[in-house]
Amino acid sequence: MLPATLKSDFPILGETVNGRPLVYLDNAATSQKPRAVLDASRHYYEAVNSNIHRGTHFLARAATAAHEAARETVAAHLNANSPDEIIFTSGTTDSINLVSDILPLSPGDEILISALEHHANIVPWQMLAERTGAKIVVIPCDENGVLDQAAFVNLLSEKTKILALTWVSNAFGTVNPVREMTAAAKRYGAIVLIDAAQAIPHMAIDVRELGADFIVFSGHKVYAPTGIGVLWGRLDLLKSLPPWKGGGEMIKEVTFESTTYNDPPFKYEAGTPNIEGAIALAAALDYVNAIGIDSIHSHEQELIAAAAAALSEIPGIRLYGPPERIGALSFAIEGVHHYDLGTLIDQMGVAVRTGHHCCQPLMARFGITGTTRASFALYNTMEDIESLATAVKKASMMLR
Ligand code: ALA
Repeated sequence: MLPATLKSDFPILGETVNGRPLVYLDNAATSQKPRAVLDASRHYYEAVNSNIHRGTHFLARAATAAHEAARETVAAHLNANSPDEIIFTSGTTDSINLVSDILPLSPGDEILISALEHHANIVPWQMLAERTGAKIVVIPCDENGVLDQAAFVNLLSEKTKILALTWVSNAFGTVNPVREMTAAAKRYGAIVLIDAAQAIPHMAIDVRELGADFIVFSGHKVYAPTGIGVLWGRLDLLKSLPPWKGGGEMIKEVTFESTTYNDPPFKYEAGTPNIEGAIALAAALDYVNAIGIDSIHSHEQELIAAAAAALSEIPGIRLYGPPERIGALSFAIEGVHHYDLGTLIDQMGVAVRTGHHCCQPLMARFGITGTTRASFALYNTMEDIESLATAVKKASMMLR
């Protein structure tokens, strides 16, 4: 286990809620920020703030250097071939919309997604399908929330042009075999996008080993601020695909007659970017790497296993997802509405997410409107798990 003292790196975790010490278990929605990240943001505005790639003065050069150093940190974290493959976006949703807006499709082409996707990896593809006459095809999941691999293989064909797949389910914590699924889709020449939003805080990601074309994630799930995210893309694709948003930075030369576009990554970074966000994201990844992503992974796996065991004792409880889940543990108690449960345990100082988790089709698949979801981060402790279990037991006795 990681030391419980890590909690003191996160000022907000010292707060009380409803007169109780805060037990924060809504990390799949957003993580809390360590002092190292808060300091990086503050230092940027106190000592560096300037626009980037535009000025020759001292601060302009300092801000540009810090922003591009942040890109290098992200590239190293993902084992990318080059920082040019790292595009800063506002988050996972923005990254997926970028890709879905620039990929060319024809009527009858198929976009393969899975039953586990959250809305950000469904709706942009539906919009692309509407624009182009392409079709959305969905890989089904079983009762444990595990994708049906035989069905997946059967759904692949020459018509499959895109596979857009979450690595880890935000709702159930299911870990998809993304390497194998990417390799299978590649045999049909499909473009593969992996949504790593729920993977990035919990496991090492090596884009070269994965073999996908695009990987997306948000900074705020991995201890960085909101409003910064990443699109990693294969450089040859980023070079050959059309630009997305037009504006400053993404151009080489503009006349009233025509424009020539910049090279990646700048080709996809129109306008003044979230400079402080990129720098703070690099600080967050440095923080994670100083602890060690493998140690974080083992720590969280112990927590989630303990939480599953403790909650299983509650009469009428159903846990969703397979036992090998990562990051998130979803559950429902017979006869108890998830909203009531979440509200009651909040009064005991325990913060979880309740509802559909931005996965309405997945909830519909299970015939439910939502679940209660506890989700874990490096700063959670066994004490937090005990608080969760005690609160859920108490609340369920009051509500049943
Ligand atoms: N996708 C985020 C969650 O799972 C917001 O809560």
